[in-house]
Order: sequence, then C-alpha cells, then structure tokens
Amino acid sequence: MKREDRKYYELDELKEKAPKLFGVPTGTKLDEMFWKVDFEGGRPVKKPLGGIPYLSIINLTGIPDSGKSLLAEQFALHQANQGYKVLFVTVESPANFLYTSLKTKSLYLGLDFERISSNIIVVDASENAELREDPRALMDTMAYAIKEKQTNNVIIDSITGLYEHKEMMARQIVRQFFNFLKKWRQTSIFVSQKRSAQGAETAEAAGGLAVAHIVDGSIVLDKKLIESRWEMSTYKLPIGSVIRTIRIDGCRLTGHDTRTWVFNISEGGTIEIVSPLEDLVRGGGDGGNR
Ligand SMILES: Nc1ncnc2c1ncn2[C@@H]1O[C@H](COP(=O)(O)OP(=O)(O)OP(=O)(O)O)[C@@H](O)[C@H]1O
Ligand SMILES: [Mg+2]
Repeated sequence: MKREDRKYYELDELKEKAPKLFGVPTGTKLDEMFWKVDFEGGRPVKKPLGGIPYLSIINLTGIPDSGKSLLAEQFALHQANQGYKVLFVTVESPANFLYTSLKTKSLYLGLDFERISSNIIVVDASENAELREDPRALMDTMAYAIKEKQTNNVIIDSITGLYEHKEMMARQIVRQFFNFLKKWRQTSIFVSQKRSAQGAETAEAAGGLAVAHIVDGSIVLDKKLIESRWEMSTYKLPIGSVIRTIRIDGCRLTGHDTRTWVFNISEGGTIEIVSPLEDLVRGGGDGGNR
C-alpha cells in the first residue's frame, strides 16, 4: 500500500511531517504571551514563542467593537511589513474600506506601506454573495490566491459572516475552512463574532461552540463600561470610561499566559496591550481608555 493511502503511522514516521514550533509575530505583546519549553543543560526553560504558533489557526472572538478587526489588521500589517504574504478575506468590511484602514494604521505604526500593499492580497466576500454563501467557491478563490501569490498567512474577518442565517451549518463550515488552511499550511486567524447573549468572557461565538472546539486556540477580546462606584474603585477608572481586555482562552499547540490583560486602542487604531488586569486592580497597572 502506498504511504499516502494508509490511515495509520508509527510515531517515528510522522517526524518529517511535524511542523516546527515557533512564533509568527503579531507586533503586539501577544507575542510574549505564548511560550515554549526548551531544555538547557537538561532543565526545562520557559521561552516566549515570539508570536502565534506557526501553522496554527487561531479564533479571535469578542462582542461588537471589541477590537477584533483592529488586531487582525495589525497582524496582517506586521507580517506584510516583514515581507511575508497575507491573504485577507474580508467578509464584513468592503475592500476599499479595508484599504483605508490598513493604510492609516501603517502610517501610524511607521511601516513601509508600499512594501505592505504588495504583500497583502484581498478577497472581497463582503460584496459578493456567492463567495459568502458557497464555501467551495470561496475556497477555490482562496486556493488560487494562495498558490499564485505564495501566501504564508490567512485572515478571515469574519468566519461567522460565512454562516449568517444558517448556524446549523456552523461546525461544518468552520471545519471545512480549518482543514483547507491546514492543507495549504497557512498560519491563520478566524475572527468570530459573539452575541451579547453569550457570556462576554467566553470563547463561544455565534453558531454556538462551533469555532472554539475546532480551531487550535482562542483569543477573547472584551470591553466593559465603568458604570458604578464599585467598578470605579476596583478598576481605578472614572465613571463612563471603557476598560478593554484580552485573554488567550486556550491553545492546543503550546503553553500560554492565562491571565486577562488590559489593552488600549491608540489614536491610530492600533492595539497596545498594557498590563495584566490583576495589576490594575491591585493598583500597579495603567490601563483603560479614557
Ligand atoms: N483610529 C481609531 N482610533 C480610535 N479608536 C478606533 C480607531 N479605529 C477604530 N477604533 C475603535 O476601535 C473599536 C474596535 O473596532 P473593531 O472594528 O476592531 O471592532 P470589532 O471587534 O471588529 O467589531 P465587529 O464585531 O463589529 O466587527 C471600535 O469601537 C472603534 O471605535
Ligand atoms: Mg470587525
């Protein structure tokens, strides 16, 4: 029997197929929040991975306006600036809006937009019902772009937008895209939207637990309005201000920080992770958007 036809392997045979564990940088503090364990002189030493795990598919979830698109765009810009190609599938925001958003952030971050613009390839499913509603059609288009442009990374913003009004199909659709991106060896981010009815701090997204169970890891973004005196004194922020948080909810591929961190959104629309929430509550940190 040819090796490709077999359904079982000895562990040793998988050696050459196993991906190397290293980080694909996002340009944010998230890069230090994933880690690996190296052995030095026979002792385990924890080291920052330097990014999201190579070839992983990460679910980036949160309620509306929690910063999902901002973070996904920042990752795309950072990768493209380093010379890696990114396929950006935009399902929510039309491509011309995405262009403006990426250009503004790129200028704000002092990146080379000319270089970036040739490294980001956009598939606009927002204005094309066939791409949005027929996973096969979208995957064919993506496969063509991945092959032609030799991309390394894929962002789908949002995956939940691909099963609007048909949440029964959520698992099947997410699984298809997951397998597709594994096959094409793309480090990927699925943005997934949460409803306010779903616990804000959980990884559960529209369509139930479909996304979180299938992907390699989840990052949950959240925002909270400071509404009471108790919250004012707990978070040390004025009433009416917003506190934004980010947390790695789980990752199958590598170790990670499990704390909730506070982040700010800069004037340029970029994400700046500041300090663990526990430090802010204890009085040490400096977080929250005023
Ligand atoms: N240039 C900017 N300066 C300051 N704040 C900004 C800027 N651009 C966006 N924001 C704010 O960032 C927040 C997060 O926006 P983002 O588009 O990332 O949300 P999202 O989580 O993708 O939401 P949705 O689920 O609706 O797509 C918004 O509330 C917006 O007001
Ligand atoms: Mg968005």
